[in-house]
Amino acid sequence: MSYLVLARKWRPQTFHDMTGQEHVVKTIANALKRDRVAHAYLFCGPRGVGKTTAARLLAKALNCEKGPTPEPCGQCRPCIEIAAGTSVDVAEIDGASNNGVENVREIRENAKYLPQRDRHKIYIIDEVHMLSGAAFNALLKTLEEPPGHVKFIFATTEAHKLPETILSRCQRHNFRRIPTGVMLKRLAEICAAEKTGLSEKSLALVARQSEGGMRDALSLLDQILSACGDQPTDAEVAEALGAIDRTLVQELTEALVRKDAPAVLSRVEEVFDRGVDLKRLAEELAWQLRHVFVAKALGEAPAELAESEKKAVLALSGTVESAQLARLFDVVHSAVWEVGRAAQPRLALEMALLKAIQLAPAASIPDLVARVERLAHGLEPASDATPATGAPGGRSDRPGFRA
Ligand SMILES: Nc1ncnc2c1ncn2[C@@H]1O[C@H](COP(=O)(O)OP(=O)(O)OP(=O)(O)O)[C@@H](O)[C@H]1O
Ligand SMILES: [Mg+2]
Ligand SMILES: [Zn+2]
Repeated sequence: MSYLVLARKWRPQTFHDMTGQEHVVKTIANALKRDRVAHAYLFCGPRGVGKTTAARLLAKALNCEKGPTPEPCGQCRPCIEIAAGTSVDVAEIDGASNNGVENVREIRENAKYLPQRDRHKIYIIDEVHMLSGAAFNALLKTLEEPPGHVKFIFATTEAHKLPETILSRCQRHNFRRIPTGVMLKRLAEICAAEKTGLSEKSLALVARQSEGGMRDALSLLDQILSACGDQPTDAEVAEALGAIDRTLVQELTEALVRKDAPAVLSRVEEVFDRGVDLKRLAEELAWQLRHVFVAKALGEAPAELAESEKKAVLALSGTVESAQLARLFDVVHSAVWEVGRAAQPRLALEMALLKAIQLAPAASIPDLVARVERLAHGLEPASDATPATGAPGGRSDRPGFRA
């Protein structure tokens, strides 16, 4: 048998297996139970989060011999054929290549006739935002009052490109990026079933790189397994993903917080020598600072990190002030862009990081506030640290200055 990529092999065959789209699944299951299924659905959301999968599941739910039911049997002919994409009564149409008015006219003509075998005639139109204006217009009438046996399911990544007239005739469901926690769980289940041993830390790296898209996550897994075999180490996984070793990012962040310039420079050199893209390093650093910031604000590390990373991030957040973190983040975040465009990325990154260290506020915010207050009350002579813009002797009588 030819090798089936993980994303296809693991396409959910029941609503229960859909990860992270509970809000959509629940509404649709209820509609099926109460026999209140709308005649047109619009599934919107980012790439690879389950829109086409949900459309096929809904088609199965409607046409299963034991249905309509939120739990299609998966065994009957309609179920099997819909899963394989060969059902005579379920048409999957690619909106991008069938976007003309003549394509819609054909659908309109066909829709009039009863289904050949099953309960409903179902039209799944993917990338529906690609239809031409005339095609949308041709669709309107049918969409308004379709024959009772017809259901439309539209999917798109760009709902904002759809005309208002179409939007208002569909029941809309917004699919979300899949939260890292549940994605990790699903990835771990798939890895266990596939008998591959990726550590939790590696899976967390995959989940993070996929930015909430399950297809992307599974494609990355495929990529890792074909590059490094079934039992890759963390370092191999990081390398296969072109990612930077998490430990190094962690150490570099700590060095920044400590204002340890020699350590910062030697870490950058290390990454540079390995030939890793320095813009990626800047991005990873910005994310790491963000994690520390979140830990500081919430008192707990972000859920998307692996357990070992959580501890380190939380510990670091206890040793650094918000003001310093904010400053570090600002500098590193703008460095991402600068490093990406620089003729000498290493130079740009090093300078940005050194600046970030040098510019960190010398005193804590409460200290500074206290100092300003003392100044305002004339208790401390204005030193050369005070900006030279004020009028001589300017104090609480200065406009806009609150004592
Ligand atoms: N919510 C999910 N739960 C479990 N697996 C998912 C989920 N979403 C996507 N997948 C996996 O990703 C693959 C692709 O998903 P699907 O085709 O449904 O994405 P899509 O939202 O239609 O993406 P696109 O916008 O690119 O068409 C599925 O075969 C499945 O393996
Ligand atoms: Mg799709
Ligand atoms: Zn069935």
